[in-house]
Amino acid sequence: MNTSIDYSEKIPNNVDLVSDRRLQRALESWQPRFASWWSEMGPASFQDKEIYLRTAIDVGQQGWAHFSHVKLPDYRWGIFLSEPETDRRIGFGELKGQPVWQEVPGEFRTELRRLIVVQGDTEPASVEQQRYLSQTAPSLYDLRNLFQINVEEGRHLWAMVYLLHAYFGRDGRDEADALLERNSGDPDHPRILGAFNEKTSDWLSYLLFTYFTDRDGKYQLGALKESAFDPLSRTCEFMLKEEAHHMFVGASGIGRVIQRTCDVMNEHNTDDVRKYGVIDLETLQKYVNFHFSVSLDLFGSETSTNAANYYSAGLKGRFAEDSYQDDHVLIEEEDFIIEAKDGLWSKTPKPAITVVNQQLRRSYIDDCAKGVRRWNRILDQNGVDFQLKLPHEAFHRQVGLYQEEFVTPEGTITSQDEWNDVASNFLPTDSDRDFVLSLMQPVYEQGQMASWISPPTTGIHTQGIDYDYVRL
Ligand SMILES: [Fe+2]
Ligand SMILES: [Fe+2]
Repeated sequence: MNTSIDYSEKIPNNVDLVSDRRLQRALESWQPRFASWWSEMGPASFQDKEIYLRTAIDVGQQGWAHFSHVKLPDYRWGIFLSEPETDRRIGFGELKGQPVWQEVPGEFRTELRRLIVVQGDTEPASVEQQRYLSQTAPSLYDLRNLFQINVEEGRHLWAMVYLLHAYFGRDGRDEADALLERNSGDPDHPRILGAFNEKTSDWLSYLLFTYFTDRDGKYQLGALKESAFDPLSRTCEFMLKEEAHHMFVGASGIGRVIQRTCDVMNEHNTDDVRKYGVIDLETLQKYVNFHFSVSLDLFGSETSTNAANYYSAGLKGRFAEDSYQDDHVLIEEEDFIIEAKDGLWSKTPKPAITVVNQQLRRSYIDDCAKGVRRWNRILDQNGVDFQLKLPHEAFHRQVGLYQEEFVTPEGTITSQDEWNDVASNFLPTDSDRDFVLSLMQPVYEQGQMASWISPPTTGIHTQGIDYDYVRL
């Protein structure tokens, strides 16, 4: 099957856009709006420089990406869906076993549109959050990775906008416009989800964002990939392919931060390393606590009727739905939540269908823990007696079952007063943030790295670490 992408069109695509003139015209009129959003809200500098970027050229298994130097505004954002699966069936919910849908069923229109809008809203939000990071990149290699992620989040916006335009008529087009009208942190028109209104003001936060928050994206996209609405499923499948690089940037980036800190600790035989221009491990742990907890909030309430309805209707499943050893209908199945009762944790049984969010969050937590184990191996290998930990899932939550609780990273339930006394041990303080910000000096000489991060082990694609990833 030919899965390649048509680049001769104004909007590169593999959905045969040329055969639907109306849709093509509608998207072509959205395109300049996207371009002005990109120039106003996208990377604040380097828009006129050539960046070594990958562009998707095929959605098949082999050689899907092409690498070349391109200026950011000239990046070819397009619409790419994975290949259709023949005779695909709905894998969960009350309609399990029936053929998937190529059109939106009237009764699920509002819910499906909402799911697409919420997902779509996060994509440009992260670009807006990272707008100023290019001014303090620790190396050209890192700067290039930032831009790669930014252009791909822009493409993910295109992916959702295509679905809105192609399947939701007038209200879909209005929603597509609104995706550019809301902005991260805008007091009047904020982005939909809380975590996407926080500024990403330093590179440590950015690397943890790509590790923890892009990984939430992986789980949300994985759950939507199971959808009975086949165009959504195929869209998400291809987005997941791009997403892998974003999490690699976070996982390897934090690994490099740890390596650098270990080197300095060993060289000077001390853990008091701030004066040598590196991030001490206690501070890193606080940042981990923060980013993990805000990312957990993105999965929504532990018990959720909306999530139950989405699941029953076949709109949104669980990540790797097939891997669950249950009936995939969940009406008769039992699961549980952990509640705080009189200062202790207690396990409450629940119908599984009501805790789908929690199931998704659990698989996410397991995935997060794998990377933390890899980071801890770096500490071990360097003979450093310190281990990073994920905090308890009830720690510092603003959404769901635990939002009223005050829980330490170890999972001890405390009072508000007790918590206030110790919070500065668990979460970055203003002075921690000031310290981290003070390290954020740009390094733009080929192959050079900032004081607080080690070089990567390899470069991008086939290039070396000292390649001209950004042509200044
Ligand atoms: Fe994305
Ligand atoms: Fe991403």
